[in-house]
Order: sequence, then structure tokens, then C-alpha cells
Amino acid sequence: MPGIVIVGAQWGDEGKGKLVDLLAEPADAVVRFQGGNNAGHTIVHGDVKYAFHLVPSGILYPGTTCIIGNGVVVDPEVLLNELAQLATQDVDSSGLRISPNAHVIMPYHKLLDQAGEQRLGKNQIGTTKRGIGPCYADKSLRLGIRIQDLLEERILKKKIVAALEPKERLLRPWQRDAVLDLQAMTERYLEFGERLRPHIADTTALVWDALDAGGTVLFEGAQAALLDIDHGTYPFVTSSNPVSGTAAVGSGAGPKDLDEIWGVVKAYSTRVGSGPFPTELDGTLADELRDKGAERGTTTGRDRRIGWIDLVALRYAARLCTLDLICLTKLDVLTGQDVIRVATGYRTPEGELLERYPYNQSVLHRAEPVYEDLPGWSEDITAARTLEDLPQAARDYVAYLEDRLGTRIGMIGVGPAQDQVIWTDAGRASQAGRTVGV
Ligand code: GDP
Ligand code: IMO
Ligand code: MG
Repeated sequence: MPGIVIVGAQWGDEGKGKLVDLLAEPADAVVRFQGGNNAGHTIVHGDVKYAFHLVPSGILYPGTTCIIGNGVVVDPEVLLNELAQLATQDVDSSGLRISPNAHVIMPYHKLLDQAGEQRLGKNQIGTTKRGIGPCYADKSLRLGIRIQDLLEERILKKKIVAALEPKERLLRPWQRDAVLDLQAMTERYLEFGERLRPHIADTTALVWDALDAGGTVLFEGAQAALLDIDHGTYPFVTSSNPVSGTAAVGSGAGPKDLDEIWGVVKAYSTRVGSGPFPTELDGTLADELRDKGAERGTTTGRDRRIGWIDLVALRYAARLCTLDLICLTKLDVLTGQDVIRVATGYRTPEGELLERYPYNQSVLHRAEPVYEDLPGWSEDITAARTLEDLPQAARDYVAYLEDRLGTRIGMIGVGPAQDQVIWTDAGRASQAGRTVGV
């Protein structure tokens, strides 16, 4: 013990990677438990910037075992490229371990993802087109290819045939495409399997052993609670469950192994892709915050949509994930705003005030946020390292969020660099705080 879970509490890109990186050095293991290379986790170390998509954000520490858990969907080509890229940055990733039960994103998953979006036209989800949805769909249909299948030619070929058969009509436009040639595809994926073979291991046992020996295991979430396929703004969601409970299912740990749960919350909101976003801003303010916060996707390079912080959505996420602590990121980006708006409720067109996240999506689509305005600050806060270093208005904003969310803020981000954080008393007293010795 302990098992520490880190999840996004908004629509993704809250800064999960930075928090995992901060906690990873003294940890025994970091395990990714869902999602795939739709994720993009950026970490800044000194002058060096790393972008992780599949590799857990703990790989920079040789003493920490990094694990891709059974709940992740793996595009082997992307993973091998990521490992090659890390090698050029002198990162030794030979210790990476991959679950034999993780599902493989195949070329037809990527084609189907693109075709599905094209078919939806103006109703498209805005997926990352990385094949995530079709891969999870095949997993549920029991037509998936698992990492272990890449090690046996006979099994792999049989499974590809079975997976392709019901997709024949949808894949007709590509029937002459070389990437879908059965023999060529089998050979290519067998080769990926050979290259990944040294990394394939019983990852569930690795997680159990680390926990049972009293070690620290970090469970690294991708995406975020409001993109959860069950609890998010369906169908404008990802195809997995980014809520904290999945940390157990997607790694093989048990629910009682999850000792402390951190939700990462941006001091404002962003969203990539389509779907309801009640506090969304447009115009110059959105552009200003997008520029200041460098809000462009790590994976697809798309501009992120920008909005004020939304307490209705955050209270919902905090309860769904039973958050113990919040890591509030990017407070520095709000510097210079005269007024900081906080959505405390939604108003329906019928005039009803909602303080609880509506279960009916049509209500959410039509709801207008009700704001409380707080005073901003103009002082540069990027060098602040204690709460006392912050201007009073910034401290008041933090205290207000903590009070309204009913969840302690353990850490505050004031810049992208690893040392640009403020640990609060609650953070220092947490398992995470004690593990890193702050
Ligand atoms: P993730 O997907 O949740 O890991 O987040 P991303 O890496 O996609 O996006 C977060 C971005 O914000 C990254 O570029 C980080 O380097 C950066 N970042 C993280 N924390 C802070 C912070 O406190 N202030 C600022 N200005 N940038 C931050
Ligand atoms: P991290 O881990 C932000 C969004 C996509 C799209 C929807 C479905 O960096 O926070 P998908 O390709 O998953 O089928 O797309 O989910 N999305 C993300 N948005 N951050 C992410 O990951 C995301 N991963 C998926 O933009 O709206
Ligand atoms: Mg991201």
C-alpha cells in the first residue's frame, strides 16, 4: 500500500501527466488502466518536453515500473514509435511492461473510426480517429485481438478473419487497400508482437506484488470523468470508463487497493471535440485563455474549446470518482482577468435552477450556466511555492472552490514545469504527499 489513483475530473487535458510525473519518482509502479493513444500527456522537465500517449508518465524514472494495464487499447505501431522517440531523448524504457490481455488497435479500427465520423457529418463526435471506439467495440463483441495473440501466427490469423467478417460491408471501400490484406496484416502484427515480446508480462501480478509488499502504485487515468462512456455526455464521450473505479478493473487490482483518489481540475475548463459544454466561451476571451494556457491538443493539435470552471459538472465528477483530493492546475493562466466567473448552477429554459448535474442530456444541451463572479488578480504567480505567496484574490478563489466542491485541494499548479506547484497542508498530509516527502 498505498494505491493512489489520478484521474481527470473535467473533459481531459487537466494536467494529469504532470501530477503523475511528480509522484512517480518514489513510486514502485505506474499503471495506465484505460484509454489508448487518444490520450496526450505532456510533461516538462527542465528544458525538455515529453509527450506521452501510451507510455505511462513515470517512464523517466528507472526505478519505477511502468505498466500498460489490461484495460488499455494498444496501437503497437504507435507504442513502438513512442519507445523509439523516448530512446532519442535518452529515456530507457526497457522496463515497460504490457498486459497480455490489453486489446490491440488494428488498421481496420482506424479506418472504421474515420469512416464513422465521416458518416455522422455535422453530428460527429470529434474523435481522435485513432481507432479507440471500434477497438473497444470489438472487445465487447469478443472479436478483439489481444496483445498475447500477436505471439502466435495461427491464432492471430484466425482472429483477424473472424474480426473482419462482420465488417466486410463497411470496409468495402478499402477492400483493395494493402493495409487490409490478411497475410500482410498478419505478418506485420506478428512482427510488432516480436518487438513487444520482451515487454509482455503478467502485469496484474506485478501490481499485486508491489501493493502486497507495501509499495506505492500510481494508477494513471486518461481522458476524464465527463468523457466517461457511462457517466459522461454520451455519445460525445470516449469509449472507455475514465472514472476512478476503473483503476481496479483496468489493472487487475481490487477496489480495496485504491487508497487515495486525486482528481485533476483545471482552474477553468477545456474540451476537445463535440458535445455540450455549458460554460463555453467564444471571442477574444477564449482566444486569450487558449493562448495563455497553450490549449492545443497534444494528440491531434486541435484548438481546445475554452470555458469557465463549472462546479455543477465538477461536483458530479467528484462524487462519481469519490475524490479525496484535487490537484488544481493552471491557476497561472487566469492571471490578468479582472473577474473570474464560476458556474454554480444551470438554469433551464423553463426557469428552473439546477444545482445537480442533469441526467437528461436534452436538459444539459439547453441549460444556461448561472455564474458567481469573483475578483481576479494581476500579479505573476508562476514563482509562488506556498499559498502565502499567492495574492489574496487567488487564495480566495482556491478557498472558494474547495468550499463549494467539498473536496480538499492538495496541490496547485502555477506553471508547466515540474517545480511550479504549491503543496497545501492537505496535500502534504496525504499519502501522495508523504510518499514524495513534501
Ligand atoms: P493531461 O492530458 O491531463 O496529462 O494534460 P495535457 O498534458 O494534455 O495538457 C496539460 C498541459 O498543461 C500540458 O502542456 C502541461 O505541460 C501544462 N500544464 C500542466 N500544469 C500546468 C500549470 O499549472 N500551469 C500551466 N501554465 N501549464 C500547466
Ligand atoms: P487526455 O488523456 C481530451 C475526446 C476526443 C473526442 C472524444 C472521443 O490527454 O486527457 P476518442 O478518440 O476517444 O473516441 O474521442 O474524446 N478525447 C479527449 N479529449 N483529452 C483526452 O485525453 C482525450 N481523449 C479523447 O476529443 O471528443
Ligand atoms: Mg491530454
